[in-house]
Amino acid sequence: MVVAERVLSGMQPTGDSLHLGNYVGALLNWVRMQEQHDAYFMIVDLHAITMPQDPAALREATRRTAAQYIAGGIDPDRSTPFVQSHVPEHAQLAWVLMTQTGMGEAARMTQFKDKSAKEGSEHAGVGLFTYPILQAADILLYQPYGVPVGEDQKQHIELTRDLAQRFNHRFGETFRIPKPLIPEQGARIYDLQDPTAKMSKSASSPNGVLLLTDTDKKIAKKIKSAVTDDGAEIRYDPAVKPGISSLLSIYSVLGGKSIPELEAEYADKMYGHLKVDLAELAVATLGPVRDRTAELLNDPGELDTLLAKGAAKARETASSTLAEVYQKVGFLPAAGG
Ligand code: TRP
Repeated sequence: MVVAERVLSGMQPTGDSLHLGNYVGALLNWVRMQEQHDAYFMIVDLHAITMPQDPAALREATRRTAAQYIAGGIDPDRSTPFVQSHVPEHAQLAWVLMTQTGMGEAARMTQFKDKSAKEGSEHAGVGLFTYPILQAADILLYQPYGVPVGEDQKQHIELTRDLAQRFNHRFGETFRIPKPLIPEQGARIYDLQDPTAKMSKSASSPNGVLLLTDTDKKIAKKIKSAVTDDGAEIRYDPAVKPGISSLLSIYSVLGGKSIPELEAEYADKMYGHLKVDLAELAVATLGPVRDRTAELLNDPGELDTLLAKGAAKARETASSTLAEVYQKVGFLPAAGG
């Protein structure tokens, strides 16, 4: 039997809901990968508390994100979805890795620099500083060959590789060196109200962001009120026509048609036609994900059982890696433990 290669990734449970950018940029990619990999997908709640969080909202966001993973197509019989805080080895390995990380090395992380600048660097917590080291622990515990992430996470994967190599060098071969798996030119999803900005939960207008929890009416309305460009021609040209190009990209990923096919189909039509059809397509593809999410959230017992199963499976691997690390650094084994 050929053993499937392992991959692992995760998203934070913050915000109101996953949006179209998370769905297309990460989730759909994960769903494709699970076919041929032994895939682990986390909800990184430990990372979420590096920024101020309301406890009740965090709990709810964690459940909702888990439900959206599954509703979006992560199959718990094939993959291992789990909540990071259910596997205590993440925090335990992070501590050991922190002792192997240089202050300067951590201070160079651009995501830390951006986020701490936003908080005002005096107020930024130490957790924000050590965030990438926890991420390294998330990954190294599972010995994956690859980590599917966006371009923005490349630096954290580089740090992970450096820490793994350093540990292996100091203490003997322990960790597999993971590769970043960054989609070649995965469809980037832009803000519907500002098609030059990436769709993001921190957008200035909520109308620019399609949430996976939006009602059919809202989905249609957001698409129909999307900002378009001067002129009338439906053509993919992000520099000149960012609005229409972005709608064409969304159409292409949701509908499985190529951009040239769509350009041909809409050659004699107007912006309004494209929007009406795309609104219909988005309702047809995202509506069922929203409804399945709601079903899962209405039966928390089922969701909790799935997550408990995922965590138990994750712990098998995580605990064996951590035990090896503890032994290698020289911790005294607990008697009877
Ligand atoms: N930092 C990642 C992000 O912001 C989330 C994350 C945490 C992650 N741990 C991970 C991604 C491990 C991949 C693997 O998107």
